[in-house]
Amino acid sequence: MATVDVQTIPALPKANFKPIIQTSLAPKKSAHGATVFDPMVHLNYRAPENKVMMEDLDFSKDTGISPIAVSEPFTLFTEECIQRFREEVLSEEVQKNCAVESNIAACQVRGYAAKYAPFIYDAWNHPEVLAIVSKIAGIELIPQMDLEIGHTNISVKSEKDTRAELAAVEEQRKSYAADEGIAGCPWEDDKPILGWHNDSYPFVCITMLSDCTNMIGGETAMRTGTGGVMKVRGPQMGCAVVMQGRYITHQALRALGAQERITMVTSFRPKSPHYRDDVCLATVRGISNLSDLYHEFSEYRLEMLEERIRHQLKKLRGAHNAGKKTDTKQIKDFLVEQMEFLKRTDEELVLDELVVKGHQPIRDIPNAVSSSIEESTPKKKARME
Ligand SMILES: [Fe+2]
Repeated sequence: MATVDVQTIPALPKANFKPIIQTSLAPKKSAHGATVFDPMVHLNYRAPENKVMMEDLDFSKDTGISPIAVSEPFTLFTEECIQRFREEVLSEEVQKNCAVESNIAACQVRGYAAKYAPFIYDAWNHPEVLAIVSKIAGIELIPQMDLEIGHTNISVKSEKDTRAELAAVEEQRKSYAADEGIAGCPWEDDKPILGWHNDSYPFVCITMLSDCTNMIGGETAMRTGTGGVMKVRGPQMGCAVVMQGRYITHQALRALGAQERITMVTSFRPKSPHYRDDVCLATVRGISNLSDLYHEFSEYRLEMLEERIRHQLKKLRGAHNAGKKTDTKQIKDFLVEQMEFLKRTDEELVLDELVVKGHQPIRDIPNAVSSSIEESTPKKKARME
């Protein structure tokens, strides 16, 4: 059975939720009079120029469920769409009912879309958005669960702190120029927001809801199969990144000089029930409404099993009706696979009383390539510009 850390969680200061971009700029209705998500109005898709493959990270292409590791940031939504996202996610109702804090993040907003944010919910369920995300991911995807639609991380600093941060960066930049770069790139802050980790779900689409014009850093660093590190740029406002985060050990590097950083993270799983499902709920149990999380998780896992059994039955009857010999080995293999699937489903449902509210274990790395990745020295360092 999966275990949880039962230590007491220290209280964290509440984040300042006042948005920097005032939402009154957003029109209530689009030029086409749309009040719902309308791809003609709200999509501004430009395909990413590059994608990093699993093999580029020194993993075999079947390490995950797709040969794609991560995309470059790409333009996905219009400014108007981002304003609508912000309106919903920063609404009083959502902030009051769906903001959660944990040991690693002062403010996350989650589990709100189906109930309070129809625009966000429609956007991430729209066939055109799903087609784009699927095309980039190299596999047909659907949202992981309603609960994971539009999970949003909010970080807001005071104007004074942001100015001081930028001034410090400028100072460092000057001394770097004087040193002709002997000390490396000192104005880049390589400290991560949270440690190396694997996501709970196969794929994520990370969308930036803030203006990052003055932001420095904010990249995503990924471990390669040989212990090296590769970095990809963070997205600008309205842009997104698609990543196979369950199978890549990664961390988000700190962003400097941004007064506000709001990112929306929607998780995805394959549409077909026949792919393996390695979901691990460890990082989301402590920050979710457990009843909702376990309902949605159990429901889709059982639906997968239902479809797999239907498919197996069809095969069994088809072979029999065609006068073929019963394939004992195939049936046994199927049964063993489904028993493992049920066992994993059961293990993920940690009893409610054992789950520590507000706790997110940051070293959930069951598929990590090295057990000591915090200490290991990168063998090579690549960067995708
Ligand atoms: Fe992640």
